[in-house]
Formats: sequence, C-alpha cells, structure tokens
Amino acid sequence: MSVKYTYWEWNNSLSLGISAIDSQHRRIVDYINELETARIANDKIGISQVLIGLIDYTMTHFAFEEELMQLGDYPYLNAHRQSHESFTKRINHYVEQHENGVDISRKLLSELKLWLSEHISRDDKHYVPYVKKCITQDWLSNTLAKFSTLNMFSLNN
Ligand SMILES: [Fe+2]
Repeated sequence: MSVKYTYWEWNNSLSLGISAIDSQHRRIVDYINELETARIANDKIGISQVLIGLIDYTMTHFAFEEELMQLGDYPYLNAHRQSHESFTKRINHYVEQHENGVDISRKLLSELKLWLSEHISRDDKHYVPYVKKCITQDWLSNTLAKFSTLNMFSLNN
C-alpha cells in the first residue's frame, strides 16, 4: 500500500496517561486508518485482512483492560465488560455481513470511531484512578506476555 489515508487522527484528548493502554488505543486507530486505506483502494482482500487483525487486536485489548480493572479492584468491572461484549457482538455482525459480500466498511468505520471515542473518553477514563497506581513492571510484562497479540503492534509514525 503506497498512499495511506487517515480516517481518524489520534489526539491527546484520548490519552488516559497509562502508556500501555494509550499505545493499544493508538494501534486500534491505526487499524481504522488501514481499513480506510483499503476501502478507498477498493481492495477487498485488504479489507478482509485488516478486519481480521483489527478484531483480533481489539478483543485482546479488551481482555487486557479487563485484567487491569481486576488488578485495581475496579467496582464497575462487570458493566465495563458488558459494554465490551455488546460492542464485540455488533462488530461480529458486521463481519458476518462482510463475509456475505455486503460492503460494510464505511458504516463500520463510522461506528468504530463513534463508539471508541465515546468509550475511551467516558468508560475507560473512569477506571484510570482505580488502576493507575496498581500497575507494576512485573504485572505489565507478565500480562503482555499472556496477550501476545498486543506485542505485535508497530506504529508507523
Ligand atoms: Fe474499555
């Protein structure tokens, strides 16, 4: 892919001040831009590939966040988990449609951006004070080792 398009630009208002989480959120934004690039190029195989990576990465990121909330005894973990689960269901519905040959990329992009920006600035921001002081280097390296998908991020900027 030569020309890259930007659908959603990361900005610091989305930052939670927890570098592991911030870099995962940035990688998701990166995936969204890769999806936009494949969509504009009308690259159907590219769209499928990005979708697989985006979904795998996002699900693993959710699991990572849930471990983090558990670490911090976050009292609203169940509600947050439910929010992750219902979003996952919606995304899987898009994937099904995509597999049936429906062009869902534009709708999916808009939903991803809307849901994620709201989720990060409202739900994720809420757990920060509960978890921030609990993160140790040991916990971080053990948990990142467990969720190896998250280690494969490479930001191009
Ligand atoms: Fe979350």
